[in-house]
Amino acid sequence: MTLLEGSVGVEDLVLLEPLEQESLIRNLQLRYEKKEIYTYIGNVLVSVNPYQQLPIYDLEFVAKYRDYTFYELKPHIYALANMAYQSLRDRDRDQCILITGESGAGKTEASKLVMSYVAAVCGKGEQVNSVKEQLLQSNPVLEAFGNAKTIRNNNSSRFGKYMDIEFDFKGFPLGGVITNYLLEKSRVVKQLEGERNFHIFYQLLAGADAQLLKALKLERDTGGYAYLNPDTSRVDGMDDDANFKVLQSAMTVIGFSDEEIRQVLEVAALVLKLGNVELINEFQANGVPASGIRDGRGVQEIGELVGLNSVELERALCSRTMETAKEKVVTTLNVIQAQYARDALAKNIYSRLFNWLVNRINESIKVGTGEKRKVMGVLDIYGFEILEDNSFEQFVINYCNEKLQQVFIEMTLKEEQEEYKREGIPWVKVEYFDNGIICNLIEHNQRGILAMLDEECLRPGVVSDSTFLAKLNQLFSKHSHYESKVTQNAQRQYDHSMGLSCFRICHYAGKVTYNVNSFIDKNNDLLFRDLSQAMWKARHPLLRSLFPEGDPKQASLKRPPTAGAQFKSSVTTLMKNLYSKNPNYIRCIKPNEHQQRGHFSFELVSVQAQYLGLLENVRVRRAGYAYRQAYGSFLERYRLLSRSTWPRWNGGDQEGVEKVLGELSMSSEELAFGKTKIFIRSPKTLFYLEEQRRLRLQQLATLIQKTYRGWRCRTHYQLMRKSQIVISSWFRGNMQKKHYRKMKASALLIQAFVRGWKARKNYRKYFRSGAALILSNFIYKSMVQKFLLGLKNDLPSPSILDKKWPSAPYKYFNTANHELQRLFHQWKCKKFRDQLSPKQVEVLREKLCASELFKGKKASYPQSVPIPFHGDYIGLQRNPKLQKLKGGEEGPILMAETVVKVNRGNAKVKAHTWTPTPQPDPEPWLVAGRISSVGSKGEFLLVSEHVIELLTKICRATLDATQMQLPVTVTEEFSVKFKEGSLTVKVIQGPGGGGTGKLSFKKKGSRCLEVTVQ
Ligand SMILES: Nc1ncnc2c1ncn2[C@@H]1O[C@H](COP(=O)(O)OP(=O)(O)O)[C@@H](O)[C@H]1O
Ligand SMILES: [Mg+2]
Repeated sequence: MTLLEGSVGVEDLVLLEPLEQESLIRNLQLRYEKKEIYTYIGNVLVSVNPYQQLPIYDLEFVAKYRDYTFYELKPHIYALANMAYQSLRDRDRDQCILITGESGAGKTEASKLVMSYVAAVCGKGEQVNSVKEQLLQSNPVLEAFGNAKTIRNNNSSRFGKYMDIEFDFKGFPLGGVITNYLLEKSRVVKQLEGERNFHIFYQLLAGADAQLLKALKLERDTGGYAYLNPDTSRVDGMDDDANFKVLQSAMTVIGFSDEEIRQVLEVAALVLKLGNVELINEFQANGVPASGIRDGRGVQEIGELVGLNSVELERALCSRTMETAKEKVVTTLNVIQAQYARDALAKNIYSRLFNWLVNRINESIKVGTGEKRKVMGVLDIYGFEILEDNSFEQFVINYCNEKLQQVFIEMTLKEEQEEYKREGIPWVKVEYFDNGIICNLIEHNQRGILAMLDEECLRPGVVSDSTFLAKLNQLFSKHSHYESKVTQNAQRQYDHSMGLSCFRICHYAGKVTYNVNSFIDKNNDLLFRDLSQAMWKARHPLLRSLFPEGDPKQASLKRPPTAGAQFKSSVTTLMKNLYSKNPNYIRCIKPNEHQQRGHFSFELVSVQAQYLGLLENVRVRRAGYAYRQAYGSFLERYRLLSRSTWPRWNGGDQEGVEKVLGELSMSSEELAFGKTKIFIRSPKTLFYLEEQRRLRLQQLATLIQKTYRGWRCRTHYQLMRKSQIVISSWFRGNMQKKHYRKMKASALLIQAFVRGWKARKNYRKYFRSGAALILSNFIYKSMVQKFLLGLKNDLPSPSILDKKWPSAPYKYFNTANHELQRLFHQWKCKKFRDQLSPKQVEVLREKLCASELFKGKKASYPQSVPIPFHGDYIGLQRNPKLQKLKGGEEGPILMAETVVKVNRGNAKVKAHTWTPTPQPDPEPWLVAGRISSVGSKGEFLLVSEHVIELLTKICRATLDATQMQLPVTVTEEFSVKFKEGSLTVKVIQGPGGGGTGKLSFKKKGSRCLEVTVQ
């Protein structure tokens, strides 16, 4: 939005045409009627009290003004607060916000708006919020105890307040310090008609519950208290009850303990009750007037409330101890004096309580040492006051306002014009009223009114308000801003409005007539020591702490500084403080005297505009330059706007500034180059510069962001890539591992199956089909074992002839058994053979041969077997007679026996016997002959007892000699060829069959021979 577009009147009076007092007021009026209560004069804010709630303070507005610079939006107190806060935060400049104006013009409201705006924009966080809360909540507490309804303002601050809000380098609030100036304590005991005492008393009576009231020994009815104006107990639109609750919660938020809150309320109650202590005339015995208390109950209750001996309190109220270095004199007080003492006590208690409260709040909101802070001071001091009857309080209040006006003049009008001169800027001086002369009149160290007052207070001898006035009259008779009856008379002026006990000062804001009554007293501000001592004796910790001088040990005879001197010094400190900061002005204007909305009194506003010097302000502003700054800091701020000065500039500051502004092609009218500073005429140009700077900053920020983001994205990308590689390698690895595991598992499974299958196969082999075999084998083996062992133990005798052999236990051993039997037999035979001598062997061979020849062929063979072959049956060898039978034949004799020869002729049997040997012969028959000679005589037939032996030996001998087997025929019927013919021989088995072998021959015919075997 541009400055003029859609605005009501002009928003900045600098643009006003024509520039006159009237047009200025009309412009304000026009705007006021359209509810535009704020107007600028450059960067000074003029605020006209709307006396109504306007919808321009909500969060939306806060947000709006926070984002725009001063001239971009409609004039608003938020714009000013924002400018101050941003300058504090961004340029590191301590700020002060000076709010001036008459009582009821809206200063306190303005200060609260500034604070709430700053609180809303200055950072967030739990810690910060609690600091903000504490700072904001100090307002309701101080207002309850320091504000009161006056005729001009229902919520008039009856004290001056300067609050320093402290911030850290980021612009976050850390805490603060409150300084209070001179509470109007006379209000505690007396109020003008239509005014009220301090709010707290009404809030307490309306808001405290019955229990609390009882504890404080109070009654709800405000009419029952002498210190409360009976005709004005309520204020329109003010809810004392609700405000009391607000007060209590605010105190809690700030950090007051419940005990502290209770004690504060007790002291407030004490003040109220003190007002009800009624004093009456009494006389001492010697007729000297004295005073006493009408009803002891009030004092009694006070005593109980604060732990004070009521008798002591009564004595302190009604008498006074004069103490000199040598002696102590107690004098009684008359009723007026006693009332004065009581009221002085009440005022003192209350004002000290108020100071205590401020200190207590400061304790809570103070900032720890060591932190570097930036400070924003907000000054809300009582406005200029012109009452019907102006007293000491109005005097100091107006003095203070005079001083503030001086600050304004110094910093805006005077200083500005002087600066142009200093800087060599062409300048036509703008006339304005410099109130330095009035300030001097009041505060001059030797010849000022305050100095005179102090002098009167300290001067020995008779001192009164009138001697003080006389002194003033004498000293300032020629002063242009001082008047009194005496000076008027001297100039032969007649002014019935001027009382005899009055003097008048022409303040910057108008003439004010002060009544000197009680000036001395109020300046002395002395409390009788009896009273402070009595208070100190109270058991109530808070009350006691308010009167440290009551401690007899601390008692000093030195006078405390006077109220005026104190005030002056605190104002001086304040001024010093304000001069050290960057000022921001809010000029509050009261539109009417009746606190009425929408009503704009042209005259009233004219007066204010005049004394506030608004017109001069506009003139200086218009002729001058809206903005100035040293080249160095200007260059520092704006050098980024030019390529030649950014990022590095090596030339001089002024040169650099010229470069920057030259490149921006500013019109030369807009600029003035001073010796050390650059001056910029219109705020628009500054705004333009700021806008350019903002854009450039954005560009730079974008550049930084771009680079940073690029870097971040790159690093992020690299990180992601790395991570991706790690992840994918892990993933792949994992997949492969999984795959491998799967394969392994499968292989194992297959293996297991195969092995299982093999095992099962084996198992089947070994178990299912083999078990029976194994078992049967085992059983079989054990049976075999058993059988063999049994056999071993039960072997038959080794005799060959013993054919016994145990039968097999089982049938299937039969074969084996037979074999074993056979083996055993063979073994027995072998054994038998082995032990045979060769002779026996020979015998047996012969037997064997016999067996081969006859076994099975000859019936008598079996009987022959056991009979051994003797060969030489006749003893041929040993008998030499028989040797001739041998026929000279060499070698052994095969056989020699007696045989029966069948006669070849008749076939008679004749025994041929040789001399038998003596020994018995089992076979008496023996045949000897030469077989080779058969033929010529025919064959021969021999009967031999040992035919088998005989034949065997013949066969053997033949075999040995000729290798020919002799044919042997065994028959039962054969024929023999004899010389005469052949003979048939028949062998017949005898009937006996006894086996004796006895033969009997019987010739049957010629050709048959029957042989019967017995
Ligand atoms: N900006 C405002 N909006 C609405 N009412 C206001 C505003 N400023 C002042 N007032 C009204 O004017 C009264 C007096 O204002 P206050 O700030 O107490 O005056 P001062 O401190 O200058 O004596 C307030 O109680 C309030 O009703
Ligand atoms: Mg106020």
